[in-house]
Amino acid sequence: MKSSTVVLHEFHTFDGIGIEDRDLQDLEEDMVEVKVHYCGINFADFYTIHKLASDQLPAVLGIECSGVITNVGSSSVPFKVGDRVICYDFKGGLHRSIVRIKHEKCYAVPENIDLKTAASIFVNYLTAWCALFSLGNIKDGESVFVSSCGGGVGLAIIELVKSKKDVTIYGTASSAKRNFLESKGVHFVEYSEVAALEENFDLIIESMNTETRKVLTTKLNPFGRVVIIGAKGMIPGSNAAETSADPNINPVDLIYGNTAIAGLHIGLLADNYPQLTRIALNSIFTQLTPENLEIKIYPFNDAKRAYKELANRTNIGKIILQI
Ligand SMILES: NC(=O)c1ccc[n+]([C@@H]2O[C@H](COP(=O)([O-])OP(=O)(O)OC[C@H]3O[C@@H](n4cnc5c(N)ncnc54)[C@H](OP(=O)(O)O)[C@@H]3O)[C@@H](O)[C@H]2O)c1
Repeated sequence: MKSSTVVLHEFHTFDGIGIEDRDLQDLEEDMVEVKVHYCGINFADFYTIHKLASDQLPAVLGIECSGVITNVGSSSVPFKVGDRVICYDFKGGLHRSIVRIKHEKCYAVPENIDLKTAASIFVNYLTAWCALFSLGNIKDGESVFVSSCGGGVGLAIIELVKSKKDVTIYGTASSAKRNFLESKGVHFVEYSEVAALEENFDLIIESMNTETRKVLTTKLNPFGRVVIIGAKGMIPGSNAAETSADPNINPVDLIYGNTAIAGLHIGLLADNYPQLTRIALNSIFTQLTPENLEIKIYPFNDAKRAYKELANRTNIGKIILQI
């Protein structure tokens, strides 16, 4: 059996992406078969395109999708035909019209959540939830700084933080997103203005891995936390106009400053701590207001253009593919 699949044949170029019919793997006992309706595009796909995730080619792109189960490998699988699920695997392989996948990598979608929303929330909202609440311990009245605040994770943070009272949000983004972010109540900061910021923050959610990160780690209030979630500065040819640079994290500085620096990887969380992942996801489902999501939909056959939009830095919120 074949399925229409987004395949990367060459690194560092969108021309290396093609859509082709590819054989599905056998349906093993612990697997389900899912007819995919929507595929969520993530920054992680961009790392794959730039050989930062794996050096294997050809590679099937895509770490999340949503759809309906059409077959199960055995009766021991805790899903049945017709169930609606989110599929997530940080190692990729999910941007295709039909996927066969281990049932542990599937998450039931509640009745009140449509499949478009379902394909848009797992990666972004789980990252935002863990960064804000599990590691970030955000509290009423605190301030949070979010680098690249206009993307999928950034907008999820803006939504989820509403469960706390009077949190002030600061964030960087490309200038074209300024009006939109200000309309969401964000104190907009140009990337070039970070070093000159006078404010300190209670929580910083950082995804650049550039000089900006180094500067930000000096802008914490006592008991302030940095949660490192990404490394966008590693993308070659990035127009971030900054160089990639890990901060020199010095335990003595942390002790003297009464501050903390944490790291987050939801892929390994989902693989190694499924219970924690499901608790977080259930909480997200109850907090979610689907009509507040910013989702841009591309047809599946336009995948190349959709990935390019992320690279051009023009996206606000989530980009998904519809099959
Ligand atoms: N730790 C985890 O488990 C985890 C999970 C999910 C995502 N993440 C990370 O969270 C961050 C946000 O992810 P996302 O999926 O929501 O992506 P996203 O924010 O939608 O990413 C696209 C945006 O990133 C900004 N950007 C900054 N530097 C860039 C560069 N060199 N090239 C292209 N775009 C650049 C651009 O916005 P502006 O120019 O407006 O800033 C662009 O519009 C990423 O760093 C991702 O790796 C981490």
